[in-house]
Amino acid sequence: MGGGRATLAQAESPRGLTIRGKEFLLDGKPFRILSGAFHYFRTHPKDWRDRLLRMRAMGLNTVETYVAWNFHQPYEKKADFTGWRDVAAFVRTADEVGLKVIVRPGPYICAEWDFGGLPAWLLKDKDAPLRRSDPAYERAVDAWFAELLPRFVDLQATRGGPVIAMQVENEYGSYGHDHAYLAHLRDTMRAQGIDSLLFCSNGATQQALKDGSLPDLLSTVNFDGDPTGPFAELRAFQPDKPLWCTEFWDGWFDHWGEQHHTTDPAQTAADVEKILAAGASLNLYMAVGGTNFGWYAGANLSGSGAYQPTVTSYDYNSPISESGELTEKFHAVRKVLAKYTQLPNAPLPATPPRMPAQQITVRDSVPLRDALDALSGTPVRRATPVPMEALGQPHGLIHYRTRVRGPQGTKGLRITGLGDRALVFVDGKRIGTFDRNQPDHSVDVTVAGASGTLDVLVDPTGRVNFGQGLNDPKGISGQVLLDGEALRNWEIRRLPLDDLSALEFGRVHTPTGPAFHRARVHVDTPADGFLAFPGWDKGMVWLNGFALGRYWSLGPQVTLYAPSHLWRRGRNELVVLEMERTGDRIEVRSAPDVG
Ligand code: GLA
Repeated sequence: MGGGRATLAQAESPRGLTIRGKEFLLDGKPFRILSGAFHYFRTHPKDWRDRLLRMRAMGLNTVETYVAWNFHQPYEKKADFTGWRDVAAFVRTADEVGLKVIVRPGPYICAEWDFGGLPAWLLKDKDAPLRRSDPAYERAVDAWFAELLPRFVDLQATRGGPVIAMQVENEYGSYGHDHAYLAHLRDTMRAQGIDSLLFCSNGATQQALKDGSLPDLLSTVNFDGDPTGPFAELRAFQPDKPLWCTEFWDGWFDHWGEQHHTTDPAQTAADVEKILAAGASLNLYMAVGGTNFGWYAGANLSGSGAYQPTVTSYDYNSPISESGELTEKFHAVRKVLAKYTQLPNAPLPATPPRMPAQQITVRDSVPLRDALDALSGTPVRRATPVPMEALGQPHGLIHYRTRVRGPQGTKGLRITGLGDRALVFVDGKRIGTFDRNQPDHSVDVTVAGASGTLDVLVDPTGRVNFGQGLNDPKGISGQVLLDGEALRNWEIRRLPLDDLSALEFGRVHTPTGPAFHRARVHVDTPADGFLAFPGWDKGMVWLNGFALGRYWSLGPQVTLYAPSHLWRRGRNELVVLEMERTGDRIEVRSAPDVG
């Protein structure tokens, strides 16, 4: 009889993460979430286990990750879940290391990631409704969720797996108040088999909590600094539930041309201590730094509407750095966590090996102009310019060409709807540059002969990932105006630059851009490297065909992180697309410089 009662009690004790009054229970026992954010899409998959072990060593019991939709489905084709994109493998690795998992599948994630993780093809119509009850948008989301969510079903703690909770949308109260949309996402998640605890995280104001939450889901808050005020707001909104800071900003991100952000480790540790002393659960945002590899860095709009592109590094001044280093902040926070949890009984991991410094000379070059046809395939023709999304292109550059009748005197050229920087040429000669932040800028054009070729090469940086300016198409979504008159009959070349194998390098020195440059790097033992571009201005770098990300002399980031797994023993190939001016060497450094 007694045995029978025990079996019954066991069967009745709820599995997974549940709420009892102001506390969480995991499989029926009190549980405090000590979590840290680590984005699988920002760290090479061969480093996932290493970084997760470092999180464990810090005293965390849970890892939180977003899912970046556009990382899996950049083109409107089948979503990719292989290799680096095998998010279920990431979850299983976390489980093996002894971490529970929180998944934030968006579909919008913000995260300083291009378009907040939404795929560019949603902007085929640049004004397409997003993040609200709209049939076309919800149809796309539902199809994506039908691909994504089943992968987590059996990994849920409700079924014995590590996934304890999932978020619905992301800080929705900072964007809209369409509760029907939130309810649609919740219902879709449930219908796909997600029976875990669901939560809505928001900024710590009554308005954001009200707009961004559903009454039947747990509300949580995101903040930095002292938790007293934010937790009082959460308590006022939701009196009888557990307190949880789902993003404690222990660092911050940087924009190109602005200052580098750091936070004081002692202050961060003191704030974490206050959160824990309040009995609350925690998610450090970020625990592990990462990288906006390739074209994935996002952007913001300032209060006055200025466009602010985000740098390539997402080190975030995190406790565990972009290249896996255990920082002073790691040790300070670990000391606090030790008061609340049993630290693993293993020696702390050392900094991953780094390459010796070396200087590399660039030998082969090819001007972009000479490579246009090889890289873009057949041009498309349109009466007026269209942005890349309208042509199914997610990233890269885009080139517009038309003919201007002459001879005519000097006239002013303007561009409207530019994303984000344009280099303009007449008959191959550079005549000026346009920047989205100077919308009234005009460039003088003189066509001496009977006609001239006008080339506009647009170099976009990231899509806006936060706020009302989310619809941020790249290329030209307005007009190119000569003396106020819209130019027509455009030949448009898409340059996604996914594959550079068609480039034919010549042994020429090309000091001015835009041009591709190739360098060979000999490596004895692959290890982490940090690339610097002294004297260069702005561009994109590929290491053995993998797009590492943008560099820009504006700073604050100086070096690009090139993880060990991208290098080969022996000969390696670096390709640099420089838009402006070529420096005389590239440096491989043995330490990062993010600002
Ligand atoms: C918000 C978002 C995150 C991230 C941080 C800032 O909290 O939810 O995705 O953008 O801001 O780093």
